[in-house]
Amino acid sequence: MRILNYGSLNLDYTYHVQHIVAPGETVASSGLEVFCGGKGLNQSIALAKAGASVFHGGMTGEDGDPLLEACRRSGVDSRFIRRIEGRSGSAVIQVERGGQNSIVLYGGANQANKPEFVDEALAFFEEGEWLLLQNEVNGLDYMIEKAHSNGLKIALNPSPFQEDILKCGIEKVSLLFLNEVEGEQLTKKTEPEQMIKILNREYPETAVVLTLGGAGAVYAAGGEVFLCPARKVEALDTTGAGDTFTGYFLAALTDGKTPRRCLEEAAAAAAIAVSRLGASASIPERSEVEKLLNDSPVR
Ligand code: RIB
Repeated sequence: MRILNYGSLNLDYTYHVQHIVAPGETVASSGLEVFCGGKGLNQSIALAKAGASVFHGGMTGEDGDPLLEACRRSGVDSRFIRRIEGRSGSAVIQVERGGQNSIVLYGGANQANKPEFVDEALAFFEEGEWLLLQNEVNGLDYMIEKAHSNGLKIALNPSPFQEDILKCGIEKVSLLFLNEVEGEQLTKKTEPEQMIKILNREYPETAVVLTLGGAGAVYAAGGEVFLCPARKVEALDTTGAGDTFTGYFLAALTDGKTPRRCLEEAAAAAAIAVSRLGASASIPERSEVEKLLNDSPVR
């Protein structure tokens, strides 16, 4: 089954700092690396590494060669990526000891998507195939509407969360990926059980995957709820771990695996990703995920 992931492509300027800079403060960094990232690109690479047939849709700027090269190297089909004048999207990322990060985004080419090009990409896909979206490109409402009327199944990771997302027709989404913070922003509740209850009530056709950091991840749909515990790892850089989770989950689901197994594979992939530096650079190969699951199965 094919997946169109229409999303952002960013150049990530990643600074290693003792602590994340406070307002008014200046800190020195111990290193700067430029990685390929963007929630969209990271999720495409995770899908491809997990073995899915993934096409990335989106826009890069004149500086987009490394982003296209990252697609090529990891087996992501880039025929629906257009290059336009100006800059690609980018991110300034501070990573502190312990792996926590802080991100400032510049939209660049990610904000220049046009309906004609979206239509061209969507027309390549058939009823029952998947469209995956995040919230770093413009035109989500149009993409959801059009993909739904074309009979595609839609997976949405509304990250970074903005209130506007509520007007995008979430009821048309088959699979919603959220972390705890986004769950709270969407439902105004702080308890995961409450979040799930509200989401399942308001969007009865939508399966919910809620990641809870150290408390694991939950799948909830049609009255079924599964929890997969988190794996204990020493975190070096959490950037892109959620994207790794999303890509591995959707790859497993479209491969016909049970939701429980999808959670296990996604959690194992994300655990490996946080132990490495970078966003797309930290996404593990499928063989590494299988090895971890074999060597230390979920109990
Ligand atoms: O989820 C991590 C990603 O968020 C980074 O790669 C950065 O580009 C931002 O989009």
